[in-house]
Amino acid sequence: MTQAPTEVTGGAVDGLAALEAGGSVAETFGIPLAVLAELTHRCPLQCPYCSNPLELDRAATELSTDEWKNVLSELAEIGVLQIHFSGGEPTARKDLVELVRHATEVGLYSNLITSAVLLTRDRLRALHDAGLCHIQVSFQGIEPEAADRVAGMRGAHAKKIEAARWVRELDLPLTVNAVMHRQNLHQLPGIIQMAVDLDADRLEVANVQYYGWALKNRAALMPTLQQIEDATRIVEEAVVRLKGILAIDYVIPDYYALRPKKCMGGWGRQFFNISPTGRILPCHAAETITGLHFESVRGNRSIAAIWRHSDAFNRYRGTGWMPEPCRSCDFKEIDFGGCRCQAFALTGDAGNTDPACTLSPLHERIFKLAETEAAGEADRFIYRNFKGGTPETDGGQDI
Ligand code: SF4
Ligand code: FES
Repeated sequence: MTQAPTEVTGGAVDGLAALEAGGSVAETFGIPLAVLAELTHRCPLQCPYCSNPLELDRAATELSTDEWKNVLSELAEIGVLQIHFSGGEPTARKDLVELVRHATEVGLYSNLITSAVLLTRDRLRALHDAGLCHIQVSFQGIEPEAADRVAGMRGAHAKKIEAARWVRELDLPLTVNAVMHRQNLHQLPGIIQMAVDLDADRLEVANVQYYGWALKNRAALMPTLQQIEDATRIVEEAVVRLKGILAIDYVIPDYYALRPKKCMGGWGRQFFNISPTGRILPCHAAETITGLHFESVRGNRSIAAIWRHSDAFNRYRGTGWMPEPCRSCDFKEIDFGGCRCQAFALTGDAGNTDPACTLSPLHERIFKLAETEAAGEADRFIYRNFKGGTPETDGGQDI
């Protein structure tokens, strides 16, 4: 059930109400049911497709334990039901158990999105005892050496397998998240079997989406069209074969799509996330769009007021902002013009139609670019880190 914000700032122009009155949106927006809390950008892994911004928030700037607790309380008060603790690596926060306990106390369902490499059995039990409801563990593949190379950390894969088993020992629901690209798509059948063997409830087969670090590494990650067609067939077969055993979500890469994805369910419609320093963002990649100002929980507006009134949320909300061909398109209230971050990454203007759409004048060029990069020789990564990235060396990254 979506609930309306409990607060509207006195005298403020209600930007969302103005959009609704103008008939530019298909429905009224309430506070999202689920919110992503990026507790930190710190992470022992260095994945070249990380969804964090290129400029990472330093530890000293992160919200304190008390600030996060206040955020969790406020979210519960305004009607949010689920909190997804993410990062970076959320287990890098020493206060994670305390934050999970607080989420439980204020009535939030909690999910931990983790690489699992920092988890110990005792810490996992403490999280479970604090009321953690679900865990999602990310995997880089099934071949340990190749997976560790993508992660930029030796021994990471074995650690993940061990931690995923502990999750099920505690009878916590497990989702396996597998990020797919040209260099690991051949492992897809094995990844599906790994998820079954780990007794996961759900598998997310997530082809890389290209903004932030992934855009920097696009030439090394872009799959061929043939790989995507094969993967689609493998997933479709597995969905039928594993019905009742493993639920599978599948995200195809936009560059090979005909229509864009309804990113985030539409900008500012169903979702927001909170950055390590407390900025409220319409999506995890929103800070890649320059020229938008994102308000923070450290300011003097409530979270509900930021959601409802802030310029960044209202800029691309609904359909009123759309240019042609979206403006007169029958799909405009189905996909909301696709992804703003991708439009910005590929056209330099977040207000353009997402070039993933075949009706975009740029679509053909993007498709060709994907084919060219996929056929290229580049396979070295630029690893994600606080230094702005480190190129992989001949002898392999010093992991
Ligand atoms: Fe979606 Fe715009 Fe393409 Fe229509 S033109 S399908 S609204 S992105
Ligand atoms: Fe930001 Fe799609 S990732 S709108």
